[in-house]
Amino acid sequence: MNTTPKEIIDEEVKWDKTKTIVSKTDIYGTILYANDVFSNTCEYSTLELIGEPHNIIRHPDMPKIAFKMLWDALKKEENFHAIVKNLTKSGRYYWVITDFTIDKDENGKVIGYTARRKSVPKSVIKKVEPLYKTLLDIEKTKGEKVSELYFNAYLNEEIGKSYDEFVVELFEEESQKEKKHLEHKKRMKGLSWFFFSDF
Ligand SMILES: Cc1cc2nc3c(=O)[nH]c(=O)nc-3n(C[C@H](O)[C@H](O)[C@H](O)COP(=O)(O)O)c2cc1C
Repeated sequence: MNTTPKEIIDEEVKWDKTKTIVSKTDIYGTILYANDVFSNTCEYSTLELIGEPHNIIRHPDMPKIAFKMLWDALKKEENFHAIVKNLTKSGRYYWVITDFTIDKDENGKVIGYTARRKSVPKSVIKKVEPLYKTLLDIEKTKGEKVSELYFNAYLNEEIGKSYDEFVVELFEEESQKEKKHLEHKKRMKGLSWFFFSDF
């Protein structure tokens, strides 16, 4: 696979946000399965994806610590959630919330992992993006270890929960708000016949 850095385009790729992006990997993160939503969204064909490491869609805006936490959880056989900005083949991006689960064989041996991704509300991205930027800046100037220590201290002091809990709660909170806002808008629209028609 060609790994030369590609041009990054600061533009969201168009994708069907009602759908779920699914991939399965072996225990090393090599892609074994990608659904059509995945290949349509990341702009690689299934053939291009299968057998490749999952970092094929890693976006340079993502701090390393997010993936370290992911792998630490998976190695402990713990399911995990993360908010991830991914890179498409053309250099565009898409944000998702990802649910990672452990796949085991009939003897209970871990044989791989499954990731299911949904679109995230803009308000969640607005909260996570500056945090990831700070982590990335620390990582670049002070190194990965310092960024990890900062992130753990931040989660302890400012959030009071683990990254996984933070992601789940933030997503639930903002999705609820968005739903209420949409219902409100729908209600307004529903009454516009009353205010704007002449009978
Ligand atoms: C099931 C599964 C799904 C993954 N999905 C993504 C993904 O969508 N985007 C991503 O950047 N990394 C994903 N990863 C993490 C990658 O394996 C890798 O750790 C990450 O891209 C960081 O790459 P690097 O370690 O080369 O810096 C996934 C890992 C697993 C096990």
